[in-house]
Amino acid sequence: MSAQPESSAPQSISRPIRRAVCPGSFDPLHNGHLDIIARAAQIFDEVIALSLVNPSKKTLFTLEERQQLVLETAAEAGLDNVRVDSMSGLLVDYCTQNNVSAIVKGLRVATDFDYEIQMSQMNHKIAGVETLFLTTNPEHSYISSSLVKEVATNGGDVRSFLSRAAYDALMKRLAENADA
Ligand code: PNS
Repeated sequence: MSAQPESSAPQSISRPIRRAVCPGSFDPLHNGHLDIIARAAQIFDEVIALSLVNPSKKTLFTLEERQQLVLETAAEAGLDNVRVDSMSGLLVDYCTQNNVSAIVKGLRVATDFDYEIQMSQMNHKIAGVETLFLTTNPEHSYISSSLVKEVATNGGDVRSFLSRAAYDALMKRLAENADA
């Protein structure tokens, strides 16, 4: 009887889950954030959209509201391996405590790079945590939460920059603030 050729079928190898974080203020999450989170979700088994608690930064939305908007937007986009969390303190501490393989960030313009490279080098130096940069889709490269809020506050149309959930929440919050 002739020898059977070795199977070339891929072997199932058990390996630890590959988890990444996409950190940000997400005040509110916009389509540029969503694009980076969605692309990270194709590379990693699990992506945590991590809202940062920064007491020195005044936000339009509470931490819970920001997380809820990320959750609703991820569900709207059908991203079933994205979950949300929040933290204060050092990002690298969160990464080491939660078995996070990498921080994933989007790079829009050169000024982003100048700021981000220092943080990524510091994070690598103090904790060995890697940062992966994804270049922002040019369609979103000029979008930031601050600009979206500024345009919307002054009556501009920001519908195309936000998910339905984030747009509705922003309009509602601006109306509440105008009435207050
Ligand atoms: O959306 P933002 O505000 O531009 O996000 C910036 C953020 C929150 C990702 C960045 O400030 C950060 O990573 N903060 C975590 C605190 C920390 O670890 N600081 C040391 C960096 S070397």
